[in-house]
Parts: sequence; C-alpha cells; structure tokens
Amino acid sequence: MRHRHAVLAGLLALGLATATPASSQAPLAPGDPRPNLSRGQLDRFQRGKVVFQRVFTPETGLGPLFNNTSCAVCHDQPAVGGSGFEDDDIETHASVFDQTAGTCDQLEAAGGPVFRHNATTGNPPGLPPSAGLGMGHRTTPALFGMGRIDEVPDAAILANEGQLGGRAHRLADGRIGRFGRKATDATLAEFTQGAFATEMGIDVPSELVANDLALTVDFVRFLGLPTRLNRPGGALFHLVGCDQCHTPSLSGGPPLYTDLLLHDLGPNTTDAQPAWARRSACTAARPRLSSGASRI
Ligand code: HEC
Ligand code: HEC
Repeated sequence: MRHRHAVLAGLLALGLATATPASSQAPLAPGDPRPNLSRGQLDRFQRGKVVFQRVFTPETGLGPLFNNTSCAVCHDQPAVGGSGFEDDDIETHASVFDQTAGTCDQLEAAGGPVFRHNATTGNPPGLPPSAGLGMGHRTTPALFGMGRIDEVPDAAILANEGQLGGRAHRLADGRIGRFGRKATDATLAEFTQGAFATEMGIDVPSELVANDLALTVDFVRFLGLPTRLNRPGGALFHLVGCDQCHTPSLSGGPPLYTDLLLHDLGPNTTDAQPAWARRSACTAARPRLSSGASRI
C-alpha cells in the first residue's frame, strides 16, 4: 500500500510539474492570508503570525519538556505556517495496545503519548520498556487552509462514514475529532492550545495570555490554500480512487482532500504495533494531503 502510494504520488507530481496556473486571478502563494478577509481579520492574521513565530525560553515558560522553541521553527517551509524540513521538526509518538480493554494506552504516566525530545533541565523521559510498545515518527504538515476544517458541518463528515472503512472519531464528550493525525481534537482552538503545551511546554493562561492563544488560532484559521494548478493529475487521482478518502471537498467547502474519518492503512503507515488485530484501537489515521499535494 505504501509503495503504491509512493508510485502514484510520483505520477501525480509529474503531471503537476507540467501544469500551468488555473486562474487569471492573483495567485495565492504559500503563507498568504485567505483572500477577502476584513481589515480586522487581516490584522489578527498578522498579529497571530507574530505569536506563531515567538521564540520561548525557560524564562518565558519554555518546558520543562519541549520539542522545539516556537510554532514557526517547525512549521516554516516554504513559508511561515508551512511544513517541517529538518530532523528536529519530527515528533515521537508511542502507545501500547491494551488487550484486555481493547483500547489504546497513550502512556501518559510515562510521559506519552508525545515523547518530547528536549528538557530545560536534565533529560526528557525515554520510551518505557514495554511489551507491545508501538512507536512512530510524525513529520510536520503544512497548515495552509487547514483551519477551515473547523467549518465542516458534522453531517458532511458522517455522510461518508463506512466508505473504505472510514469512521468518525467520536470523543468522550460526543463531539467529532477532526484535528491531528488521529483526529484527536474537535476544534482548531483546542488543538492549538495542545500544541503550545505539548511542543513547547507553554500553558495558557499562566505562560501565554488567552488573547495571544486566540491570535495564534486566527493566524492558522486565516492562512490561505495556495492557488491550485491545472489538474492533469486530478483525473488520475479520481480514476484510481484516491479521492474516496482524500475527498476533494466536503459539502462544497474548501479543497482539503480529506474525509476527516479514521482509516486503517496497515502496519507500514502506523504509529504502533503491526499485528492486524491491534490496529483499529492504536493506529488508525485521518487522511491528509498537506502542502503541494493539496494543490492537485
Ligand atoms: C516540534 C515541531 C512542532 C512544533 C513546535 C509545532 N508543531 Fe504543529 N505539528 C507538528 C507535527 C509533527 C504535526 C502532526 C501531528 C499530528 O498530525 O498529530 C503538527 C500538526 C499541527 C496541526 C494539525 C494539522 C492537522 O492536520 O490537523 C496544527 C493546527 C498545528 N500543528 C499547529 C501548531 C501550532 C499553532 C504550533 C505552536 C503552538 C505548533 N503547531 C507547533 C510539529 C510541530
Ligand atoms: C483508504 C483511504 C485512503 C485511500 C484510498 C488513499 N489514501 Fe492517501 N492517506 C490516507 C490516510 C489515512 C493518510 C494519512 C496516513 C498517516 O497519517 O499515516 C494518507 C496519506 C497520504 C499522503 C501523505 C500526505 C501528507 O501530507 O503527509 C499522500 C501523499 C497520499 N495519502 C496520497 C494518496 C494517493 C496518491 C492515493 C491514491 C493512490 C491515496 N492516497 C489513497 C488514506 C487513504
């Protein structure tokens, strides 16, 4: 499956290389704000970008555990809000499948599920020696357009449930998870607050005022999707059935290329254990097509 993904993604890229811009409107470059924002929204986008780029130090709240020092240090290719590039933009996730409960143990007591790479003093906790431990490295996706996942109505997500095994991730409080590789968060605001805490050890409101969190959320919300190219690869994408999970748009919304459902893709693409029986609890993932791929 992974191999097939790679070959077809290559074919699509070949098609894209020969493409020309689809519209005569001013093209939107990666990192640009969405078009037609009000003055107030554009102002929040710009002020939010400053917080997104703020470098935290131990004196301003960094740690005690952290992966990196600012949002932008990971999300910066080819523009602020983009994808990761360097090795230190990668997260380490680990979990253990609980056979008795049939659930995924996120190893919170041991410092999981995201095992931080850095600590302000001493060493961060390492992976616990545990039978059946599953570990995965996650690369940093581009966030262009991703904030608009917030706008998709629940009904549009639920309408595709069951297609190619997709299932909505229902959170304990009944809402549908949308953000993150495993659709762990229902809203952009919650995911963003979690990113401050997990990636930098920054807690709201003690280390970041709530208004700065809200500005960061609006920066991501108002990041535009880069202008799409002509689509010689689009027909192939449809022909092969990629769009059954990478749904071009849900209920007429922006072209985000995801059905926002969890899918089990098999052991090679998961964070966790290879055994088939363990997959659904620990390893299912939500489709995404970040950065250039979403320009099909
Ligand atoms: C250490 C690098 C790193 C830092 C720092 C970082 N991120 Fe991320 N970000 C990632 C990775 C890796 C993922 C993918 C994780 C996943 O899919 O579960 C991600 C995913 C996201 C997503 C979800 C996209 C989606 O597909 O649902 C958003 C939104 C996001 N980050 C925003 C932020 C914000 C805001 C900050 C600063 C508060 C931040 N990130 C800091 C690495 C980082
Ligand atoms: C059964 C549903 C399904 C189908 C069909 C499918 N994908 Fe995916 N795809 C996913 C999921 C789920 C992920 C996220 C995997 C992960 O996070 O490990 C993904 C991830 C990707 C990524 C990585 C995107 C990123 O930003 O990291 C690419 C590229 C991709 N798919 C291309 C394709 C192509 C090309 C096809 C058609 C040949 C295809 N996919 C068909 C479910 C699917």
